[in-house]
Amino acid sequence: MSKIVEIFEVGPRDGLQNEPVFISIEDKIALTEGLARAGLPRIECASFVSPKWVPQMAESAGVVSGTTPGLAKLYVLAPNSRGLQDALQTRVQGICVFIAATEGFSQANTNISLAGAVERVQTLITEFKHKASGDVRLRGYISCATHCPYDGAVEPPTVARLAEMLHRSGCDEISLGDTMGTAHPEQVAKMLDAVVQVVPAQSLAGHYHDTAERALENIDVSLDYGLRIFDSSIAGLGGCPYAPGAKGNLDTEKLYDHLTKKGYDIFGNPNRMALAAMAQLARKVVGR
Ligand code: HMG
Ligand code: MG
Repeated sequence: MSKIVEIFEVGPRDGLQNEPVFISIEDKIALTEGLARAGLPRIECASFVSPKWVPQMAESAGVVSGTTPGLAKLYVLAPNSRGLQDALQTRVQGICVFIAATEGFSQANTNISLAGAVERVQTLITEFKHKASGDVRLRGYISCATHCPYDGAVEPPTVARLAEMLHRSGCDEISLGDTMGTAHPEQVAKMLDAVVQVVPAQSLAGHYHDTAERALENIDVSLDYGLRIFDSSIAGLGGCPYAPGAKGNLDTEKLYDHLTKKGYDIFGNPNRMALAAMAQLARKVVGR
């Protein structure tokens, strides 16, 4: 099995979206650009969601246009047709659509039932196929892949069905979210057991928040299932505004150190010292 793992950086989006302090567009660009210069190959840098729902992401187009092209592939989140259209006006290399595995989180995060969200994401993917140029990639997220703050435990077959739907509809990659960051490795194993039956492991990513500080154990389990892409956030910033109590994402430096200690090569060969400098910048930007 491959000894190369990719770190998919979500700091400028998932890391910043829930921060209460004002963060200037210059700081957002500096962070995205610095992470790209540090050698991270893909960065989720912004989100074309409603600014009424997530005010911190209001200047997303400016973040994309302000970042020097060609350093890293820039990905952004799009929740609906409007977000997709706006995102495709910019020079992004990846669009992320998202869906939750539960009714409660779907309502809280996107104001729609789970059935409505499935329909909406399928329409969005169809629009993406018509409108995006061939080199723009499509990533799909499934939130609450093990546990939901509103509905409790999530059955693995539910996640598998959604992952299969996203895969068949045309997502290149599906990122499985432990949104609350409280999953045990056994829960992740059960979830992956079901998902890898229907989607190849190389099309999956692990997006494990680190509230209970078990994200690395969950990554170890995922490595055993063949996953080789993991999401993390510089300085461990982050959390979803609609997932009460969910703290940060897995810290990029922590992930880098863990993987390299286990003998994995990191795709793109990011510079460890540059990551440390970016963590400092990230902490400064959010006032910590
Ligand atoms: P809604 O209120 O049902 O939608 O929200 P609406 O169509 O009634 O729109 C409300 C207002 O927002 C309107 O403005 C729209 O024009 C505007 P008004 O007429 O009142 O002035 N609007 C927009 N503006 C800019 N861009 C848009 C857009 N869409 C509508 N794209 C909606 C539905 C989906 C829009 C809303 O619920 C939303 O934006 N939700 C996003 C929430 C979010 O971003 N959550 C965090 C990201 S997901 C996450 O963090 C999880 C993840 O990390 C994985 C994991 O950890 O599990 C990915
Ligand atoms: Mg997240």
